[in-house]
Formats: sequence, C-alpha cells, structure tokens
Amino acid sequence: MNQRYRKTIIAGNWKMNKTPSAAKQLIEELKPLISKAKWCDVVLCVPFVDIPTAVKAAKGFKVAIGAQNMHFEKSGAYTGEISAEMLKELGVKFVIIGHSERRQHFAETDLTVNRKIHAALEAGLRPILCVGESLEQRELGVTMEHIRLQIKIALHNVDAANVKRVVIAYEPIWAIGTGRTATADQADEVCGAIRDCIRETYGARIARAVTIQYGGSMNAGNAAELLSKPNVDGGLIGGASLKAGDFATIVNAANQ
Ligand code: 13P
Repeated sequence: MNQRYRKTIIAGNWKMNKTPSAAKQLIEELKPLISKAKWCDVVLCVPFVDIPTAVKAAKGFKVAIGAQNMHFEKSGAYTGEISAEMLKELGVKFVIIGHSERRQHFAETDLTVNRKIHAALEAGLRPILCVGESLEQRELGVTMEHIRLQIKIALHNVDAANVKRVVIAYEPIWAIGTGRTATADQADEVCGAIRDCIRETYGARIARAVTIQYGGSMNAGNAAELLSKPNVDGGLIGGASLKAGDFATIVNAANQ
C-alpha cells in the first residue's frame, strides 16, 4: 500500500452467493466489526438481486455497494442483461469488469471488456478491471505479455481523467478459489508491472494514483503480508468475503 498517493480499496466479490435476506444479515454482522475503517475504502460486490437490500443495509455505514458485471449497451434487446444506468439508479458505485470467471464461462473478451469499461465510466460507475494469467501462461513465462495486452485493450481510448477512476485487480487465475495464493513478492511484482504499463501511456503522476488490487485466495491469514507490499493497494476477495469475521480482519489489516 502507498497511502500517500492512492486509496487502498478492499472489495468483496460475493460471486453467486447470498440471497437478499442473507446479504442483509452479512452486512449487519460486518457493521460492528469494520466501523473503524480509516485509510481504506470498502466495497461489497453483490449479486444483482441483492443490490437494493445491500444498498439499504449499508446506509450510513462506510461501505459502497458494487455489482459483478453489466452490459456495455445502454438499453435494448439483450434479454437477461443489466445496464450501467440501471445499476447507477440503484445506488451502485463500483462494477467488476472482466472477471476471469466471466471470460471463461461467458465468453467475455478484451474487446467487450473495453466496451464495458467505457460504458461504466460514462454512467459514473467505477470499474474494477480484472486481469490475470493462467497457470500455463505463468509456466511459459508470458505473464506480463498477457497482462499488458489485457490492460492495453481494456483501457483503449480511456482518457487520463477517467483512468484514475478505474481500479485494476490483478487476479492470477491459478490462485482463484484454489487456496493457492501468489506470494507477496509475486503479487507486488505484477502489480508494479501493471503500474509501469499505466505509466507508459498516462505518465508517472497518474500511474501513482491508480489503485491496483491483488485477488486470489486472499484471506485473514495472508492479507497483512500482501498488503504490506508497496504496489498492492488492496484486495478483491472472494471466499473470505462471505464470512464477516474474515473480511473484517482483512479490512483491519488494510487500516494498519
Ligand atoms: P477467492 O478469494 O475465493 O480466491 O476469489 C478471488 C476472486 O475471484 C475475487 O474476484
């Protein structure tokens, strides 16, 4: 973390978990545990149907509600899809874009990710752009080439003023839901290289201001070490965000 230049953001990605009533319960459990959040912003990215309940439950509590996906068009014949404007009207502040599970199971590509980033920014939402390599790519030694390509396409034609509103989450696919976390040094190395990539396009001042998270089996036990690294500005947390005590421990580690 480098609190001088940029915000630390701890975001929970609940994925396809928690009904609206369970969402309310989890947020109520979190309230007394993370009331002292000082440095870091806290975001809960909940399933679409939980959004109204979550926004209501989080009122007056320093937690923003996020979504996990959206469509890139404003409206139209896209059965089953949700637009940025719909999310915005419900009080959503952040939206995860390009999660590896969406790339893998729902055929998202770097090009659709780019369109979604533009649509989210235009609607006033902050995208959490997910990038990360597969185990095969890591073993072949092409991690950075792959991630640079993902970033360059995702941010194509995003101007400097807007890029500061994009949160980037480095999520190595081999670390997601596997219990196998990247080491703090591995996470710092890739987050640093992502910052270099931003610097090449947007300059040093903007690169310093962008929040770059790590995600992938981050938990109550390893968060403090990961967050101690200068280029790791927070976390995108799956499994451990479903347990109030564990998530609060991670938030508190970011507040040290
Ligand atoms: P886990 O923390 O369960 O590994 O999930 C990480 C993730 O995919 C967050 O978006």
